Amino acid sequence: MKVICTERSQVLGARLARVLQVPVANVSFSRFPDGEHYLVAGDLDDETVIVGSVVDNDALVQLMLLIDACDYSRIRLVLPYMAYARQDKQFKKGEPLSARVVAKALSRGVAEVFTINIHDPMVLEHFSAPAKNLSIAPDIGSYIKDLRLNNPLILAPDDGALAFARNVASTGGWESDNLDKTRLSGVEVRMAPKQVCVASRPVVIVDDIISTGGTIATAAGLLYQQGATDVYAACAHGVLVGGAYGRLMAAGVRDVICSDTIERASSRVSAAERIAGAIRNH
Ligand code: R5P
Repeated sequence: MKVICTERSQVLGARLARVLQVPVANVSFSRFPDGEHYLVAGDLDDETVIVGSVVDNDALVQLMLLIDACDYSRIRLVLPYMAYARQDKQFKKGEPLSARVVAKALSRGVAEVFTINIHDPMVLEHFSAPAKNLSIAPDIGSYIKDLRLNNPLILAPDDGALAFARNVASTGGWESDNLDKTRLSGVEVRMAPKQVCVASRPVVIVDDIISTGGTIATAAGLLYQQGATDVYAACAHGVLVGGAYGRLMAAGVRDVICSDTIERASSRVSAAERIAGAIRNH
């Protein structure tokens, strides 16, 4: 077995290979003069684990090319972050079901797929290969444990993230709850206060994705008004677009804890052990 990774997932790919004690296969990436992607994969074994987060359109194309270049080997695809997964329904007439498009495009020639905290596990049904979603909530919980916060509340910004918050909270036996959120636009979110006791205690807001940071920045302001001592933000996928990190700092968030499904300076938690465990068991 070898691990091979796209350009944007090199760190997680190397960490996974180290945990699995297998080599990383070399790949050289380049572009044609007109901007088209090109790559050459090095020698592979019979079994290949491809690690490639779809963080943007270039990463998607690169991953499709890499899958094709490895097609003489049995491929297990690790999709740590899957862009387009949030468009998982036709919310209005005429829209594409983008999650289905990406899932289908990445299934060809693949024996198995692993995702991590995908936005909605229903998306897995769109892959034409067997797909399994892994959760790094316990790993985020372990990181929070090391912060030694005094009686933290683990708070989901909405009820959709409550299961994730509960899983994080169960690591330390902490209390969990959620806020009510109304999205006003792509970057604006309003929080309706809920009956959560945050006075004189630290709060860790957890979500699957931090994108613009608008959700958590708004929540942090609200929580400080309610007497929270410190507000932290944690997520599986640090998309962090449009000045999100600065927005969170400006809102008084003490620290932003992301995983390495998207490689960021704030990637404090690695998904490597979790992925390796799933690969060993399959
Ligand atoms: C959306 O449904 C996700 O679970 C996150 O809540 C959302 O992506 C966060 O977005 P933002 O950081 O832009 O508020």
